[in-house]
Amino acid sequence: MKKFGLTAIAIAFAAGVAGPALATEKLNYYCSSQEDWCQLMARGFEEATGIKVNMTRRSSGETFALIKAESANPKGDIWWGGTGDPHLQAAEEGLTEAFVSPMRSELNDWAIRQASSAGDKTIGIYSGALGYGYNEEILKANNLPVPSCWKDLLKPEYKGHVQMANPNSSGTAYTTLATIVQLFGEDEGFEFMKGLHKNINQYTKSGSAPIKAAARGENTIGIVFMHDAVKQAVSGFPIKVVAPCEGTGYEIGSMSIIKGARNLENAKKFYDWALTAAVQSRALEVKAYQVPANQGAETSPSAPDLSSIKLIDYDFAKYGSSDERKRLLKKWDDEVSVLPQ
Ligand code: G6P
Repeated sequence: MKKFGLTAIAIAFAAGVAGPALATEKLNYYCSSQEDWCQLMARGFEEATGIKVNMTRRSSGETFALIKAESANPKGDIWWGGTGDPHLQAAEEGLTEAFVSPMRSELNDWAIRQASSAGDKTIGIYSGALGYGYNEEILKANNLPVPSCWKDLLKPEYKGHVQMANPNSSGTAYTTLATIVQLFGEDEGFEFMKGLHKNINQYTKSGSAPIKAAARGENTIGIVFMHDAVKQAVSGFPIKVVAPCEGTGYEIGSMSIIKGARNLENAKKFYDWALTAAVQSRALEVKAYQVPANQGAETSPSAPDLSSIKLIDYDFAKYGSSDERKRLLKKWDDEVSVLPQ
């Protein structure tokens, strides 16, 4: 193979076509945010740098598992987006690389705190509060009451009307599990998850799928980040967004360079580029209404106002630690997902 490769290169050189082909730089980009935003970032970086981007879009928990499985022979260079907890777990397990970007001085404190807590092996890129959304037409058609709290979702009349993702694959759903445990305590929190399980019609793979299904009229209530529900509402679907009355958790969406990245310099270029105000402002083009990490980035009036939402003091160090994430997921698998519905 090698011999053939060299011969081919020699022939190409002789033909005068090898220059640009050999010079093609690339970046293997793992993305855990919304597909349209992932694509916008990939194409935007290609246009800005000429570096070819190969993108793989998977949910946060799935991407963590992929990077771990590939750790002996890493295929990805950079992991952008998705909830912070699995990024923190990757940092702790030595799967990602420390990097201090010159862009850091432009970021909000919460984004830098995410980096400091992980030895600079990850960094915050956006933030958003958890909640849920419902399709008001389906709710009315089924004579269902309007929910406003987490505990409302346990009402028997919502049986078959609630959807969330699986916390193993989805960062959104893991944030939900960790939020409920922090709000109600572990014992009561697991009782809540068991009660909720009775009303769940499906655990999806991706975190935002439940609200997309509600927008299409295939589901009634979707437990998602509030900005994902807002996106459906501003797109014209009959979706109402709820900030649960008891208070709620939030994410610090993160970015990490993968340890052993084969295109390390390009990963660093992407990292710096992705932290700029101009690039973070482009989120609005795809109705991604998270709070941007860069203080100079534009936000939309449609974005959920985090200062008006009752947020818990989410313990990222604890719930993003490897032991705690594994323990909670196993407990959910063993005690909740196996129950009859
Ligand atoms: C959506 C949200 C992001 C979040 C991501 C997590 O894309 O807009 O803010 O980080 O979900 O995805 P996951 O599929 O892992 O729940």
